[in-house]
Amino acid sequence: MNDSGTTVTIDGAQIEAAEGSTILEACRGAGIEVPTLCYLPTLTPVNACRVCVVELEGSRALVPACSRPVEAGMIIATDSERVRHSRKLVLELLASSVDLSLVGDELRGWMEEYQVDADRFGVGSAPSPAGERDHRHAGTHPAPDPSSAETVAQPAKVQDDLYIRDYSKCVLCYKCVEACGTDAQNTFAISVAGRGFDARISTEYDASLPDSACVYCGNCIAVCPTGALMFKSEYDHRQQGTWDEEQQTVTRTVCPYCGVGCNLDLHVQDNEVVRVGSPLDHSVTQGNLCIKGRFGWQFVQNRGS
Ligand code: SF4
Ligand code: SF4
Ligand code: FES
Repeated sequence: MNDSGTTVTIDGAQIEAAEGSTILEACRGAGIEVPTLCYLPTLTPVNACRVCVVELEGSRALVPACSRPVEAGMIIATDSERVRHSRKLVLELLASSVDLSLVGDELRGWMEEYQVDADRFGVGSAPSPAGERDHRHAGTHPAPDPSSAETVAQPAKVQDDLYIRDYSKCVLCYKCVEACGTDAQNTFAISVAGRGFDARISTEYDASLPDSACVYCGNCIAVCPTGALMFKSEYDHRQQGTWDEEQQTVTRTVCPYCGVGCNLDLHVQDNEVVRVGSPLDHSVTQGNLCIKGRFGWQFVQNRGS
């Protein structure tokens, strides 16, 4: 180690990493790709998904690259047989039980890389009736059905005109919980309820979203990596088969509502604002907005006759 950083060996190459940085940051700084799912630079790592694991010499278990700080002399393998096997299994367990049809190209690429077989554990079970999974109690589990692979399939929760929650697509990455909690919004409207396979994201006592503590900032939608949380406008388009990202433009502008000056990324299709994002690297907002900036744009397009 010298004064400017910490020397580690990654995949056989000596790399100088910034002191206090994580293995993931060291890898990315050296151009080594590592898959992630629950990690986002603006959120505190929770180590929920284990997709980012790497092999660390001297460590009995694989370690999560997204949260483990570098230490001088570490010898790390990011692409060993053990690492690839573990990542493949984690992704197969997710793909067999969760609808991953809307994950981004990056994760899709890793699934191809590891030849993930979503049907490895059998045909997926039928969807649970609406609300059934929300009422499961810790300690009481339905008898497993060996003829099918258990899934979290269930109807989407459509409870208002702003956003929907489709937990059949939820990988329990905790990003929404973090964004709603101390990492951004400090509203704590959602958390994880239940245990084991019955664990799910829930409002307090499974209240409907309008009856919960939710303030509709939409910061949870912005961080969700699977499309489980989605603008109602996008959901409606997808239901009607009219969602077409190739036809959409994305325009960066400044929110007109107050003096904070949040940046907005307006996704527009057929002259209609269909989704609003905000850049993660904005020094003031870090991708977060309030209800007005996120959802209050109907005045642009609903002008009456
Ligand atoms: S919209 Fe905002 S307040 Fe509501 S659950 Fe999501 S992060 Fe929490
Ligand atoms: S709803 Fe989305 S952000 Fe929240 S835990 Fe599930 S996949 Fe992650
Ligand atoms: S990205 Fe590291 S544990 Fe999920």
